[in-house]
Amino acid sequence: MSEFAENIKKETEGLNPVEALTLLSDIFRDKIVFSTSFGWEDQVITHMIFANNLPIKIFTLETGRLFPETYYVWNRTMEIYGKPIHAYYPQNQLLEQMVNAKGPNSFYESVDNRKECCGIRKVEPLNRALAGNKCWVTGIRAEQSASRQSMDNVEWDEQHQLIKFHPLYSWTLDEVKEYIGINNIPYNTLHDRGFPSIGCAPCTRAVQPGEDFRAGRWWWEDQSKKECGLHEINEVIDK
Ligand code: ADX
Ligand code: SF4
Repeated sequence: MSEFAENIKKETEGLNPVEALTLLSDIFRDKIVFSTSFGWEDQVITHMIFANNLPIKIFTLETGRLFPETYYVWNRTMEIYGKPIHAYYPQNQLLEQMVNAKGPNSFYESVDNRKECCGIRKVEPLNRALAGNKCWVTGIRAEQSASRQSMDNVEWDEQHQLIKFHPLYSWTLDEVKEYIGINNIPYNTLHDRGFPSIGCAPCTRAVQPGEDFRAGRWWWEDQSKKECGLHEINEVIDK
């Protein structure tokens, strides 16, 4: 448990997401970033940042395997707000080596191969995106999975040595959708076609009504292995 994270948690308690983001952008001036995968939650946070001119850099991890719908909403978001979204790409040599050795779809063959692909396409670029920063904002919500319910809205990320903040942590999906409707925010149309959670195209499929939000992610793998290395479960702050 980090005393620093505990203090940040106390300072943001009772604030709405925009108020909390405003306070954090002041505390962590120029050292606060938001990662977007252009999902529902991320679009809400992007709107909060851009509409309020908050000095928080927005970045995405461009794996090269995203859905056409994701590229569309990315482009549309840049057009509407007229502000930059920074893309981080995998290192070409690492990617070439992996694809030349194992083919373009090696992730279906084993969990190790899948983790290797996520490592090259997401984790290494994420480490570069976070380097030198002190606060990382994400669109994680507790409702998304059982393991995410044991997280907290403010965490100390030991691995990246920074504060992780999830402004919509306690929001329900209905609240997210309502905010999108009221504010006329562009969103990924795959959400209307049974995709509550959207990652890379070959590793995401639609879910059936009543299934878990993340049931369509790496659906061929064991439940317990379904995190890609972006979000390790951190120690929860004692209250
Ligand atoms: S993942 O770990 O399974 O891929 P998920 O899709 O639930 O994560 O998204 C949770 C949060 O992780 C998003 O709100 C976003 O902050 C971040 N994230 C996930 N994928 C990306 C990506 N490709 N680029 C940037 N941020 C991402
Ligand atoms: Fe590779 Fe699939 Fe991970 Fe995307 S989600 S980086 S395609 S294994």
